[in-house]
Amino acid sequence: MWTMKRTFGLLSVASAAAFGAAPVALIVQSGCGTSATVTPTAGESDAGTSLPLDGSAGGALPCDVDAILAANCRQCHASSPQFGSPMPLVTLGDLRADAPSAPGRKVYELVTERIADDRRPMPEPPNRRLDVSERATLTAWVAAGAPAGAAVCAAKPIEPAKGVTCKPNLPIAPAAAWEMPASSGDEYACYGVELKPAAPTHVVGFAPRIDNASIVHHIVLFESDKAYSPTPIKCSAGGSLQWRMVSAWAPGGAGFELPPDVGFPLKTTGSTHYVVQMHYSNPQALPNQRDTSGFDLCTSTPRTYEADVLAFGTQELTIPPNRPTYASTCSITVPPQLAGLHLIASMPHMHKLGTSMTTELLSGGPAGAATDLGTTANFSFNTQAWLPITGASGVVTKANDVIRTRCAWNNATGDAVRFGEKTADEMCYSFTVYYPRVSAPLWSWAAPAAASTCRE
Ligand code: HEC
Repeated sequence: MWTMKRTFGLLSVASAAAFGAAPVALIVQSGCGTSATVTPTAGESDAGTSLPLDGSAGGALPCDVDAILAANCRQCHASSPQFGSPMPLVTLGDLRADAPSAPGRKVYELVTERIADDRRPMPEPPNRRLDVSERATLTAWVAAGAPAGAAVCAAKPIEPAKGVTCKPNLPIAPAAAWEMPASSGDEYACYGVELKPAAPTHVVGFAPRIDNASIVHHIVLFESDKAYSPTPIKCSAGGSLQWRMVSAWAPGGAGFELPPDVGFPLKTTGSTHYVVQMHYSNPQALPNQRDTSGFDLCTSTPRTYEADVLAFGTQELTIPPNRPTYASTCSITVPPQLAGLHLIASMPHMHKLGTSMTTELLSGGPAGAATDLGTTANFSFNTQAWLPITGASGVVTKANDVIRTRCAWNNATGDAVRFGEKTADEMCYSFTVYYPRVSAPLWSWAAPAAASTCRE
């Protein structure tokens, strides 16, 4: 049963969040490697350059290697590294340099490791993994000692990521720029925006706006019960308690747009409180970095259906110590009053020990046919993304359907880890965009997770 009693008791501890998550469609590659400029300067080039370079690097990258790096890596590993990536992957010299995290080892050695690393893959999700032949090309080149190429390569532009088709008209931005300390590698900064539309309004699209790609790592947009500082401040620990994830972006993602008859309503009495949580990364300790990133929203007059976000999964978990492959499977049977919900996109959310998550709808009961409601096989705390459900056409719930979420973690520590909103705690939420909005008196977005029952 979808117990409202139990749910009620848990409303106050429902934490939407914590750090990290990203939206259904995203985009934005500002300044980062979308050009195919040919810059014949020795040892230095723009992202996307495909002309072999002579000189200090001791030759040029082979064309097949260069083409793979241009298409899959230089959105981030550009000549001026973007989105928290620690080094460029543009010239042969870049690949033969010492690895930033492992002095004494070469970047190219780590390249072969990371493209094959299912736990920490490169490219990072939500970007596509390299296919078998791309991996074979890079691995064979490294095995041969990372030799220079001979031919002049044809330029190959990087494909820009998808944006939103609606026209953004409502910027979500900080009152002042965030000043990134050169001395700190990672920071979480938060700022609030109050929205008080004069007339009934729906938000229908979210376009990430990346200001300073040198330090932006990922962005999460929450709705909060209270107003938050309009200028960016360090996010308070546990501050995301009761925040509900609305959208998010990670490099490689795009914007998120709702179906044509659906929108997120903004309040017309009082205001809707949004909080933007920025994850900044400054691995190269660049000085004087400022940022005003956020989202640009598309709004519309009210549409037929109101959308909302709910969470499947659980709020009760204890991961025993020293369990590298612990998993919990949590199920809820759809009660009649929650039949007819269109589930259109989902965002798996765990914390740093999370390794994989799957949510499925089992039609008519536990033995019914399964429809995927969002699977992330290689979960990463920093690169969560909205996943369209069945190609964005969505799934409609029926009474007695079972919704089952399986979360897996790697707890190598000697301590049990429990549910909680701090980064060191764990979560198992599959945030799901749905419509029409449920408005039962004791309903909360966390009710489906709170009312689920779990087994190992
Ligand atoms: C969406 C951005 C992005 C893309 C695309 C991307 N990377 Fe990365 N890469 C990062 C970030 C951020 C880090 C630092 C964090 C980490 O090590 O996971 C990193 C780290 C690395 C490292 C480790 C360096 C070290 O010293 O530890 C290697 C190797 C690497 N990337 C190779 C690649 C290759 C090869 C590709 C393409 C096939 C690629 N990356 C695509 C963002 C990206």
